[in-house]
Amino acid sequence: MCGIVAAAAGSNIVPILVEGLKKLEYRGYDSAGLAVTGAAQIERVRSVGRVAELEAAAAGTASPTGIAHTRWATHGVPSERNAHPHISGSIAVVHNGIIENYESLREELSAQGYVFTSDTDTETIAHLVEALLKDEPDLFRAVQRACRRLVGAYGIAVIDQRQPGKVVVAREGSPLLLGLGADGNYAASDASALLQVTRNMVYLENGDIAELTVSGVRIERLDGTPVERPVHVSQLSAAAVELGNFRHYMQKEIFEQPEALANTLEIVGGSRSIQPGIFGAEAGSLLQDVDHILILACGTSAHSGMTARYWLEAVAGVPCTVEIASEYRYRCSVANPRQLIVAISQSGETADTLAALRHAKSLGQLKTLAICNVPESAIVRESALRFITRAGPEIGVASTKAFTTQLAALFLLTLVVAKVRGRLDAAQESAYIDQLRHLPVAVNKVLTLESEIEGWARRFADKQHALFLGRGRHYPIALEGALKLKEISYIHAEAYPAGELKHGPLALVDASMPVISVAPNDELLEKLKSNLQEVRARGGELYVFADADSEIPASEGVHMLRLPEHYGLLSPILHVIPLQLLSYHAALVKGTDVDKPRNLAKSVTVE
Ligand code: G6P
Repeated sequence: MCGIVAAAAGSNIVPILVEGLKKLEYRGYDSAGLAVTGAAQIERVRSVGRVAELEAAAAGTASPTGIAHTRWATHGVPSERNAHPHISGSIAVVHNGIIENYESLREELSAQGYVFTSDTDTETIAHLVEALLKDEPDLFRAVQRACRRLVGAYGIAVIDQRQPGKVVVAREGSPLLLGLGADGNYAASDASALLQVTRNMVYLENGDIAELTVSGVRIERLDGTPVERPVHVSQLSAAAVELGNFRHYMQKEIFEQPEALANTLEIVGGSRSIQPGIFGAEAGSLLQDVDHILILACGTSAHSGMTARYWLEAVAGVPCTVEIASEYRYRCSVANPRQLIVAISQSGETADTLAALRHAKSLGQLKTLAICNVPESAIVRESALRFITRAGPEIGVASTKAFTTQLAALFLLTLVVAKVRGRLDAAQESAYIDQLRHLPVAVNKVLTLESEIEGWARRFADKQHALFLGRGRHYPIALEGALKLKEISYIHAEAYPAGELKHGPLALVDASMPVISVAPNDELLEKLKSNLQEVRARGGELYVFADADSEIPASEGVHMLRLPEHYGLLSPILHVIPLQLLSYHAALVKGTDVDKPRNLAKSVTVE
């Protein structure tokens, strides 16, 4: 979603702000802006579109103190007028999140004579701080007082032309961290923006407010109590966020999957057995009397949960439900303190998933587990147990390597729960571990199919609609394939369990509707083959992803691609990869912005 970078340093920080925004651009990108303290007044540059345009527009701007922002519109259309920073008098503000009481604040401030020039909720913060500065000349104190009036979620950064050399930041709900550098101090909504200047990061807690100057930082709570927060040395690799030889981050991330899986599974080490402790020290006791698993997630993460449900019920024998987080959080549900709540999230900051986790806990369900790619994220911090996928930073909005590493983590969970319930003997456990260890190699082999998949993508990039079919544990993979295609190529795609075809979607099938089928050689293959014949009988063109040993012959209107290995229960992890490649290449043919698809954001930190 939106991104913030701020700096108070000893020399010109504009290039640092711009470089930081480039690293955050993937989170939100319909407009961008920066403001610095200038010779006589605040200097502000804003532009609609990419950070590169802002960079060109800011070429003549220089200052040691400033704030910057990339915006993903919530209140008000994407436009220069609505782009951050917002200014009131001598101060400028950037903001992530949503201020829920902005309408009443806006009325109050309008009555005091403040004129609003944008449609944003953020502008109320700028005027509010400006108004408070009349009684309280210290910027830090004025922002502190302003924050006490705000209802909602925010991460903000503020500068004042009359108090140069100082940036004040605050957070409630939206991520914000400080970077302690040699030549100054910095703040950002994501560590990747600050790796260019420092690895020493201080994560702010909700309700923290901090002042940065060239020589130091100080942090207080909103009530004025001083606090110290620990300094973390970030382990993020700067190279992990570089594009390297790839054309797009999505392509890079698809090809990083063998390594991401290997890193994620490293926790198993050379062992022949898996211990509950990989989910946290208390996992053994906490999982002991679990009688149900409720998985909460959004988007692609929800699809990994749906896949895991097949594993958890079949292997661990534990009933499992998967619910979209935004539904669960507002539904009257029956609480069960013995159920394990699993929140799955790449970012660990998705507002709906976090709210669903909190809601589950508020109902007395305290057995919680986060499966997440960001160790310091809110969802991890607020869960009793955790498993950190080691996919590395995922920049492409369409999730790929986070998904397959989530699946690996969820399979480990399945084995642990099965073990705790006495449903896994040593021989089975050892066989599953072997399969997991071989996964990176198996994924590598699937990636060699890229050029054939590219050929397929060219054939249907001009289509308006596509239908994805799968059965059993590959039905969620069909859903994920359809989501990927929609997200980045804008082709309307739907996924159905193949058995449901005749109950509606078959009416849509004709020669102009490509039907993509996930067809591994599993116990449902024969059933699936009948469904595929139903499609052929209506003239539908079939694109089938089978296994080396699936007995489906290619014929007229039936295009076949065979994955090199048959992978049993873990086959969803392999079968999603050609679907990722298919949507990537369809998007390339269509010329869409693959890494930053229109209207979407990487990390959705607002409702
Ligand atoms: C956004 C992203 C998706 C992602 C979803 C959930 O919609 O565009 O790729 O799957 O959020 O994100 P999370 O970080 O919670 O996995």
